[in-house]
Amino acid sequence: MAASDLLLLSLLCMLFVNQCHGACAEVDSDTEAVAGRGFKLGCISCKRRSEVDGAATVEWYFRAKGEADFVRIYTYNEDGPTIEHDHFMDRVDWNGSKRSNDIQDASIYLLNVTFNDTGTYRCFFNRILFYENYEYNTVVSKVVHLSVVAKATRGTASIVSEVMMYVSIIGLQLWLLIEMIYCYRKIAAAGEEALREAANAEYLAIASESKDNCAGVQVGE
Ligand SMILES: *[C@@H]1O[C@H](CO)[C@@H](O)[C@H](O)[C@H]1NC(C)=O
Ligand SMILES: *[C@@H]1O[C@H](CO)[C@@H](O)[C@H](O)[C@H]1NC(C)=O
Ligand SMILES: *[C@@H]1O[C@H](CO)[C@@H](O)[C@H](O)[C@H]1NC(C)=O
Repeated sequence: MAASDLLLLSLLCMLFVNQCHGACAEVDSDTEAVAGRGFKLGCISCKRRSEVDGAATVEWYFRAKGEADFVRIYTYNEDGPTIEHDHFMDRVDWNGSKRSNDIQDASIYLLNVTFNDTGTYRCFFNRILFYENYEYNTVVSKVVHLSVVAKATRGTASIVSEVMMYVSIIGLQLWLLIEMIYCYRKIAAAGEEALREAANAEYLAIASESKDNCAGVQVGE
């Protein structure tokens, strides 16, 4: 049945997506931090060719609101993480790829956000791809415009996605219900059909019998 096949497929898809944590996906960072709390500045750059070995170092720059220039605040390379700016001293943790030079997630975690952290952040990936006969250098950068608020406000995106989730759950359940009713009725109809056929067969048998009788009667007359 086409409808139930589709349902099964969509359920499988959901399971599959849930199991795909390992795969790299370039998710955009959140852009609204709450003062006094921690905040993850996201920055993900997937390798275009995942089968090619790579190594990357990461630099983060920050331009405070109203300032003209970016300053370097953080680096992550072979020597590990380094906080490069006083404003962020002891307030930045690495949230990116662990135990690997092949960094694809360069997210950092800001502890105890202040309103002074408002501004633009840029992360740079300096990546080397190791091909058989040569190495290939790329630089990828991403920008995060961070605003700091006193209290959490929910982004429209999160509200919309929650509503969509409920809509799709209810939709799938209705579908399932309709499918069940449809199948039930089909089975019931098939049962009736069989009964009717049986009755028909009996009727025919009786009819032909009585026809014989009639013929006998007619002959007798
Ligand atoms: C990011 O780092 C912070 C501070 O070390 C930690 O509390 C948090 O769980 C980390 N988050 C992820 C997703 O690694
Ligand atoms: C966060 O920063 C504020 C002001 O800078 C300070 O008063 C507070 O103790 C800090 N909290 C933590 C958990 O570091
Ligand atoms: C924020 O910046 C202003 C101006 O530079 C400074 O006076 C203030 O102490 C800073 N606040 C924090 C929490 O760093």
